[in-house]
Amino acid sequence: MLDDLDHRARQVLVNNDRGNYTIPTAGLYPYQWNWDSAFAALGFSNFDVERAWTEIETLFAGQWPDGMVPHILFHEVNEGYFPGPDIWGGIGPVPSSGITQPPVAISFARRIAIRDSHRAESRLAALYPAMLGWHRWFMRWRLDAHGAVCVTHPWEGGRDNAPDWDRAMTKIPLESAGRYHRRDTAHVAAEMRPKREDYDRYLWLVNQGRELQWNQAQLRDENPFRVADPAMTFICLRAARDLLATGTELGLEIDGLAADVRRLQEGAESLWNESINSFDSRTAGDGFNDVESSAAFLCWYAGIDQREQLKRLRIALKQVPYPIASCDPDSQQFEALRYWRGPTWAFMNYLIGIGLEEFALEDEADILREATRSLISRSGFYEYYNPLTGQAAGGGSFAWTATVWLDWAGRYEEDK
Ligand code: GLC
Repeated sequence: MLDDLDHRARQVLVNNDRGNYTIPTAGLYPYQWNWDSAFAALGFSNFDVERAWTEIETLFAGQWPDGMVPHILFHEVNEGYFPGPDIWGGIGPVPSSGITQPPVAISFARRIAIRDSHRAESRLAALYPAMLGWHRWFMRWRLDAHGAVCVTHPWEGGRDNAPDWDRAMTKIPLESAGRYHRRDTAHVAAEMRPKREDYDRYLWLVNQGRELQWNQAQLRDENPFRVADPAMTFICLRAARDLLATGTELGLEIDGLAADVRRLQEGAESLWNESINSFDSRTAGDGFNDVESSAAFLCWYAGIDQREQLKRLRIALKQVPYPIASCDPDSQQFEALRYWRGPTWAFMNYLIGIGLEEFALEDEADILREATRSLISRSGFYEYYNPLTGQAAGGGSFAWTATVWLDWAGRYEEDK
């Protein structure tokens, strides 16, 4: 008999399934989001591996000719979400946004393949050229001079209102976003969401991209927002390693991949900020932001075992009852409920946790996994949680949180 929570987790995925793609949650996020979709695929692979492959294939069906895989695919128009396809003016085969998101899909395809001994080789091999194209797009358009990967919109990093972007956000003109009607605050309380002035700036960047028809060369010169992001860099590094391993095993093209891994590794190491003893984001032209965010703890996921960061992690695991806070709870910027400025995100805990397990940092991994398990079993499959109280926040019935349960947090007892 399936445990009740396992059953409910599967139900979340099944209910959010729109045929060949999965939405993060009904209402707030009614389309296919890139890294959410990768998590949904991983969740499905626990009980329907065929559906898992379809999810990733649908995501890559939206790939642009230049290799970029959009952060949102608007398969069917939904009036409940803003900004929709017209505002973005995407130029790919499926109506889409014009920015990307961290490529966990590349690494999760490999993870799913390892589970699926029957179809894996052909499904993975068929996806491989598209995955390689996406990786090369990052290498071509998003590296800074040190080899770290930059985000060109806060939504591209997937950590919308993180303090990492505060400095770069001030470079975006405030006055010219025009009139618009936000829809997110109709679904979730305003104090849990980014502020109005943040939204104006998010839209300013979207308008600029659309007007330049998402020409990357022009955007590189003209976009005022460019921040080297530890989460994006660590996830790209992991993706490059996974591509190299897959390509080697399947005898596919791996030209330049080993050098790319080295370059990304240097880039990741360049994000070490000695003055705060942590990995940090770096605003182009301005240097480090001195922000301690949960993104720093993705280093193990990327294959980097940083002992000073481990000390920080041990503190972070004790600092709040429900780790890991997305932003250092002792900092000025911390707000327990405001999205990426404090709350705990189960999917981040998962990425951090599997990295720790790979380095046999079992004590830390166990604490994190157990905390995530108790959070979800107490509060349900929410978007994020208050790290001080465990209170659920944001959208409910969230796909990636269901995956975290099925794949990791809910299997705590049986794996021990
Ligand atoms: C928010 C999150 C982002 C996620 C999206 C859909 O924008 O910050 O990471 O992909 O919601 O869940």
